[in-house]
Amino acid sequence: MSVKSFDQQFAQHVASGLDQHPKKLSSQYFYDARGDKLFQQIMALPEYYLTRTEFDILQNNKKEILASMHNGFNLVEWGVGDGKKSGILLDYLYENSIDFTYYPNDISSNALLGLKRSVQEKWPGIRVEPIQGNYFELLKAPIWNREKPTLMLYLGANIGNFNPDLTKRLLTSMRNSMGADDKLLIGFDLKKDPEIILSAYNDSEGVTRQFNLNLLERINRELDANFDLEAFKHWPVYDPESGYCKSYLVSTCAQQVWVGALGKAISFEPAETIFTEVSRKYSLTQIQDLAMENNFTQEKIFIDGKHLFTDVLWNPR
Ligand code: AVJ
Repeated sequence: MSVKSFDQQFAQHVASGLDQHPKKLSSQYFYDARGDKLFQQIMALPEYYLTRTEFDILQNNKKEILASMHNGFNLVEWGVGDGKKSGILLDYLYENSIDFTYYPNDISSNALLGLKRSVQEKWPGIRVEPIQGNYFELLKAPIWNREKPTLMLYLGANIGNFNPDLTKRLLTSMRNSMGADDKLLIGFDLKKDPEIILSAYNDSEGVTRQFNLNLLERINRELDANFDLEAFKHWPVYDPESGYCKSYLVSTCAQQVWVGALGKAISFEPAETIFTEVSRKYSLTQIQDLAMENNFTQEKIFIDGKHLFTDVLWNPR
């Protein structure tokens, strides 16, 4: 008899998340191979303004962003994904023959391998040292040379995925890993017309719906479960006061789902929810406060003409 081995961490997460009331699963598990593909599609959607806008911000401000970075510095990037946005900065550094070492991080080792290859193809000679894993863990023991100045990148509004506690923990870890001359460039999605925000998470082609449902498909695939995808509704909501855009999967009926890896069935009442993601939106004042609270000074604010998104440059204080 062959025994299938399951990812214990994922299984444990699903077990505890679906045992709670209200039920929840972490958006960190969206990004398997299919999730990565769907997110690529999301970034190209007309409604998903974030990526496009940040791309323009970096394009228009690359010179100023990199102004104080000289030969020999470290470029550390958390959650690099496909690396398209940071490519703008790499391109500028390469053109200007500025020497640096690039430390791209991602949770997906697959993504990182592909990234290393494509960076070395596009910009031969750039030193690339991928750091795979969870950034909370990796920040405890930085592997880059801390004698050299470091520009840390945390783009894409990834910070929006964290609750206030984790946001504080992450910014504290980043701050503690930085020396006096280091800088952090961090992306925030801004509060704006709630309709624009909600559409970005409820696109007309239903790609975001598939992205959200992929979490259940992944449980089906990897943990031998039998979620009926037709029996769950993708339901994003935006609260303009808190700035929380939350996504849910809502059970359309009373149902039981068998999860083989857990050896048990999970019950859903009609209309029972699974909370899957928060994408928090900030005001410029909240961003300034966040810098202060976490011992940073806000050196510069880069923003697009429509005030949709911002990348801010923080110095340790
Ligand atoms: C990659 C976390 C920035 O929250 O906007 C896109 C992920 N979720 N559509 C975001 C996402 C649904 C995205 N981040």
